Amino acid sequence: MIGRARSVNLLLLGQLRRRRGQWLDANALARAHRLSLNLLDRELRRLTGRGYEIERDPSAGVRLVGVPGGLAAEEISCDLDTNLIGRHVIVEDELTSTNDEAWRIIRAVDSEGADVRENDGLVIVALRQSAGRGRRGQAWASPEGGLWMSVVLRALRPARQSMLTMAAAVAVAEAVRETTRLEARIRWPNDVIIEGRKAAGVLVETQSASPGLYVLGIGVNVNVPAERLPAEVRTAATSLRAELGREVSAVEFARCLLGRLDGWYHYVRAGDVDALNAAWRPLASTLGQRIKLSADGRKFEGVVVEVDLVEGVSLRLDGGAVRTFRSEEVSLVELVVQ
Ligand code: BTN
Repeated sequence: MIGRARSVNLLLLGQLRRRRGQWLDANALARAHRLSLNLLDRELRRLTGRGYEIERDPSAGVRLVGVPGGLAAEEISCDLDTNLIGRHVIVEDELTSTNDEAWRIIRAVDSEGADVRENDGLVIVALRQSAGRGRRGQAWASPEGGLWMSVVLRALRPARQSMLTMAAAVAVAEAVRETTRLEARIRWPNDVIIEGRKAAGVLVETQSASPGLYVLGIGVNVNVPAERLPAEVRTAATSLRAELGREVSAVEFARCLLGRLDGWYHYVRAGDVDALNAAWRPLASTLGQRIKLSADGRKFEGVVVEVDLVEGVSLRLDGGAVRTFRSEEVSLVELVVQ
């Protein structure tokens, strides 16, 4: 079993949530979920222990009157309409890094000799990370208010890292647009930006000994207040809350993101580069813009004439020549304001 605490009965919770506020007959509820009344009681107590407010009345029955606030695992996963991603969700108050925890769980499951499908699609969320990791060994500030999560993916072909990174960036940008109407864009290769400032990043990790096994880390500054963004990146970073001037439902955002991710994962598995390029290009912030980037220890400046998942980004340099850079060789990308 994944996770430490025994998970709640999500089918029962789903029914209670769909009929929230309405009295349901306890006998009928128990029958529908193949539980004795005693077991139903135990499941309801378990839900209460997880922050759900449930009323019992001998004649009226059972009703759900309140759900836990904030990011609760059951609130993210209950009735989530995905094929794979988010079938299991774990939420911890604090982790060093959700990617670390993903690797720890993978090792534990593998050493038990359990079926690897057990944790394929597992989502791990932390309310805070004490040692969040960004790309290229950088630290990733992860105070409370963000969505810091990792997804374990076990059934991909090797070398799908850049497709997975792009699929995740597209999913984040779409989820931001859908839940907030903010104009999120993708700054190649993997930043999600709003009005030129970074709101989210993606870090895909692999291990050479386990080709086809990926940990997909996604960090989104959902409700991080502007003053809690690290000072050194404050002018370059933003959060959904800072852009909107109000809080966003982190649960609603997480559910939307997992749904989008699950959809795009299908294309990553199928190796459908064209579908991903078609989704990404209209979201690319850099197409047609003048940018600066560093590659091979040198700086290059030019206008972006093409972006492609496999090939990378093509710049028309000032001399007129076009040079293409792959994401792995590029370390710094910035827009040149003219
Ligand atoms: C970047 O540098 O843009 C990538 C940032 C990725 C941050 C996320 S937060 C959840 C997961 N756990 C980590 O330690 N990093 C990723």
